[in-house]
Amino acid sequence: MSNHIKLISEIPGPKSKIQLARRAEALPAGFAKSTEVVVEKAEGALVWDVDGNQLLDFAGGIGMVNLGHRPKAVVAAIKNQLDKYIHTGALVTTFDSYMELAEMLNKITPGNYKKKTLLANSGSEAVENAVAIARYYTKRPAVICFEGAYHGRTMLTLSLTSKYGLFKKGFGSYAQDIYRFHAPHIYRKPDNFSETEYIDFCIERVDQNLISHVDPSAVAAIIIEPVQGEAGFIPMPKKFLEKIRSVCDEHGIVFIADEVQAGAGRTGKFLSIEHSGVIPDIVTMAKSLASGLPLSAITGKAEMMDAPHLGGVGGTYSGSPIAVVAAIETIKQINTPEFLERTVQVGNIISSRLNAMKEKFSCIGDVRGLGAMLVVEFVKDRNTKIPDMEFAMAVIKKSVARGLILIRAGLYSNCVRFLPPIVITDDQLNEGMDVIENVIQEILQERGNP
Ligand SMILES: Cc1ncc(COP(=O)(O)O)c(C=O)c1O
Repeated sequence: MSNHIKLISEIPGPKSKIQLARRAEALPAGFAKSTEVVVEKAEGALVWDVDGNQLLDFAGGIGMVNLGHRPKAVVAAIKNQLDKYIHTGALVTTFDSYMELAEMLNKITPGNYKKKTLLANSGSEAVENAVAIARYYTKRPAVICFEGAYHGRTMLTLSLTSKYGLFKKGFGSYAQDIYRFHAPHIYRKPDNFSETEYIDFCIERVDQNLISHVDPSAVAAIIIEPVQGEAGFIPMPKKFLEKIRSVCDEHGIVFIADEVQAGAGRTGKFLSIEHSGVIPDIVTMAKSLASGLPLSAITGKAEMMDAPHLGGVGGTYSGSPIAVVAAIETIKQINTPEFLERTVQVGNIISSRLNAMKEKFSCIGDVRGLGAMLVVEFVKDRNTKIPDMEFAMAVIKKSVARGLILIRAGLYSNCVRFLPPIVITDDQLNEGMDVIENVIQEILQERGNP
């Protein structure tokens, strides 16, 4: 096995430190960074910093580069587009790549009905648009979201987002007519329930909440991440998603699947909801869709997407031609059996390594996720499951110091998440997993708990 991580200085090295000092001086304090890596270039699953260190990337810019850094066909398409035009505005002119991308998404997203697609720039914008369209279509105000949800940082999406302390504290007041229901979290279920009993209980609570929180006749949309992202990669049980579908069908509510983090092939299907067989009405996509360029998409039933009046949706940057051609090339490669199969293999390698570590280290409470969207959750005690945020932070800090880029997740910030580019090799993956295993061992020794 060759070494893919090559360190020639500490991280951050001297040149990085200069940039970090500039960052602290010029950027707002609230704008966080999970690592002190200062980037020079990136390719595939590798990142080079300004001090000449070669690092492995298990974060992928928060799941932005499923196809790897700078995929050749994507870079070529971007360069080609730059030589034609950068922006004439989809609200002003028409260009064929916008339609090509929309047609692609209309075709490959689940649902055997006529669909239409609107493009935007970020995940938050996609969610904003999806909710606005659902409200317009149903002529109802209320939106149901879930505990642990993350839908973005604009005012409406922040209102839909959970984890108050980190994301919402100080920014209120929030949008009205938002109702938050309990989302199943098997690892943190009450001990006296079996898994099946607990899921049934969560399903019963949906019915109760539709009496106690909001009446279904007032509800425009239910928005759910089929695999919760920021909450700590929590796959929603098939039965629960089926319940949401049946509530939507019964009451004429729009089912919005937020696939911003779990979509674009990350879980072994193009969209994560495909694992359940449940068909949403509208899906929101972003992140890896354009291999890192700012692009999001809202794809849904044509009758819903067509509901707002002429001029009611859109935006200056909607469907930037550069991002659109990047997305077309990205999706061509992601939505192939080979790529999706590789996603499953990458996920299997990570989960088998993490599960082996769980056997050895009692600080690991849970290993979970779907496909190559996985987390490891650290706890102070396996019985009490008290979250150990400090442990997760120490794993990240020490791993980065050894050349492995990692980020956290979880309602309690006690999870480390795995979102490596799917083009990563087995060798690279195992080298990164070795780093994590050694780091956990070392932290336990430092804590006097080998
Ligand atoms: C599920 C989900 N929805 C929406 C968003 C918001 O996306 P953006 O940061 O591009 O606005 C995110 C971002 O992480 C997300 O994970």
